[in-house]
Amino acid sequence: MTTATTGRTTAQGAVGTAHTRVEGRDKVTGTARYAGEIPFADLAHGWLVLSTTARGRVRAIETEPVLAMPGVLAVLHHGNAPRVDTDYIGLLGIPPDPTAAVFQQDRVHHVGWPVALVVAETPEQAREAAEALVVAYDEEPHDTELTTGHPGAHPAGGVMPGETAKGDLAAGLTASAVVVDEEYTTPEEHHSMMEPHAATARWDGGRLEVVDSNQGTTWIQTELASMFSLDASAVRVRSEHIGGGFGSKGLRAHQVAAVMAATQLQRPVRVVMTRRQMFSLAGYRSPTVQRVRLGADADGRLRALEHRSLNQTSTVYEFVEPSAGVARVMYDAEAHHTANEVTPLDVPSPTFMRAPGEAPGSFAIESALDELAERCGVDPIELRLRNEPEVGPVSGLPFSSRNLEACFREGARRFGWAERDPRPGVRRDGRWLLGTGTAAASFHSGAGPSTALLTAEADGNFTVRIAAADIGTGARTALTLVAADALEVAPERVRVRIGDSDFGPAMIAGGSMGTRSWAWAITAAAAELRERLALGADIPADGITVRSDTTEALGRLAQKERHSFGAQFAEVAVDTATGEVRVRRMLGIFAAGRIVNPLTARNQLVGGMVWGISMALHEEAVRDRASGALYAPDLAGYHVATNADVGDIEADWVDDPDPDDPVGIKGVGEIGIVGAAAAVANAVRHATGVRHRNLPIRPDRVLAAGVPTAGGGTDA
Ligand code: MOS
Repeated sequence: MTTATTGRTTAQGAVGTAHTRVEGRDKVTGTARYAGEIPFADLAHGWLVLSTTARGRVRAIETEPVLAMPGVLAVLHHGNAPRVDTDYIGLLGIPPDPTAAVFQQDRVHHVGWPVALVVAETPEQAREAAEALVVAYDEEPHDTELTTGHPGAHPAGGVMPGETAKGDLAAGLTASAVVVDEEYTTPEEHHSMMEPHAATARWDGGRLEVVDSNQGTTWIQTELASMFSLDASAVRVRSEHIGGGFGSKGLRAHQVAAVMAATQLQRPVRVVMTRRQMFSLAGYRSPTVQRVRLGADADGRLRALEHRSLNQTSTVYEFVEPSAGVARVMYDAEAHHTANEVTPLDVPSPTFMRAPGEAPGSFAIESALDELAERCGVDPIELRLRNEPEVGPVSGLPFSSRNLEACFREGARRFGWAERDPRPGVRRDGRWLLGTGTAAASFHSGAGPSTALLTAEADGNFTVRIAAADIGTGARTALTLVAADALEVAPERVRVRIGDSDFGPAMIAGGSMGTRSWAWAITAAAAELRERLALGADIPADGITVRSDTTEALGRLAQKERHSFGAQFAEVAVDTATGEVRVRRMLGIFAAGRIVNPLTARNQLVGGMVWGISMALHEEAVRDRASGALYAPDLAGYHVATNADVGDIEADWVDDPDPDDPVGIKGVGEIGIVGAAAAVANAVRHATGVRHRNLPIRPDRVLAAGVPTAGGGTDA
């Protein structure tokens, strides 16, 4: 602690070494409290009532019998709830989803639209009363089906360009020796994180405090302040432990309803979503219909590329699943067109879900490239390497780093790709057909402005306070390692406190940008603190605290294409009798910046890959046309991959420190899922000779598409 440095980490530091989670013991012993279980004196419980009709208006709500039920304190609905403001642009640069601004209108926009909140002394009383509440609707015809050629389809607006176009597509396709023109679909998928959404709101000395499970406390703080016309300083949001987010844990109906009820009753009110409610209130990934057209020379070099994607949204909010964005980064061609379109339907609003755009988009384009490789007779890895762009295909900007080739070379070596017989349907193991497949992955790497408070304590330890969110990623532990290195002390001397909006503005846990953004702020604060300490300052009893803000440093970053990359490999076995697909092994090699904590980074990447298996084979929420509701919206009816569905799975990385980041970080939250479903689908094609373009690849689809049953192949 005697020399001042820029805060750059040392080679012998904690970053890059495996550390178990600093809060791991608290979590496994139950000491760590989640939003729905933190005790409050005088706590009341709210239960949301959701519409049973898909479109129409609420004609009447029979509150009187319910108010007479035991313990019932209030029934909030559009007729008596306070008015809130929804006419603002939030912290993320987007307006709020009106679904979260509960009870502002009598219109019903989908099955599961929040129509009332019943508040009672206990959760059981609230639930009983909510289930007894009679709501009458004037129903109107609804439309919940996403189809191509829907009259409501229109180019997507919003943050990302809906369309990009360069060159003459028709001419490019005509001049191509080989053309692939196919449609790919992905179904409605749900986040299904373990911890349900839960919020407790209370007024405390003129300040609104919300204890919640979210991906950014200052994000929710500013949203609630805007909506309730409060000063941001009059709102405090805490979210210390979070059991999964995946994009779903933003501003939702439960926080707003809890604030309304706490304000009306002047006591703490908790609102927790049930698992079934989450299927309509927590957001989801829209189904997509994608068309990919590729034109190439005989050697597989692309001349023309078109990727179009259509997704659904609600009638109250436009959410774009930007699946056609992948090729803007991954592949170039003289003629290069991409377009995201969206169709409003009488369905809940979709939202961000792990690798929004890249997850379904990579399924389509990485399947199409596999089809192209086959038609050209070129190895799928070689095909991709032949099409590596020099600069951003749409932006023309240089890449900050692009180590995709290293991922494929290392992955191919470890997976044994060279021994692969490219002919489909020739490897057998008893009644199983075996096949292998690969796909590329990318995810943008960014950082958002953050502030951090760093205190040198009188006892020689250090405290970091930052409004970061650890949604299960291990961010708290990663930041401990980053702070330790920046201070050149052991991690044991650093305590990282997160999840409190009082710590000041910070990036959300989103876009794979959390850890990088927060680490930058902590590194900057550490540099300043070390300079202060180097001056020989005595540390007073309350310590020496410095505050950093990365807004200016981020503003000085040069414009570049900044991404993580990866190569996914899968080996599948397809049961010729039942059509069941098993993923026997999977390998992902990533170039995803400097890896802060190999233990939790591997968790992140493997978790994403497991989700890719799940997406390829299992996940599918099915909507009933007649009612507009989902069939069996729970974890029995909606199958996510579990241990029994996952064989050998391995994630690793190549050296890829980000040249423009103080710690070298890129972010590992999302790239693990990208390309994973395509690798599985490409392996199924290799195993069976049949291409599946509609996810999930269910046994009935495998059987209906036809499986070679005997002969023609060789034993594995
Ligand atoms: Mo994520 S979908 O950025 O939480």
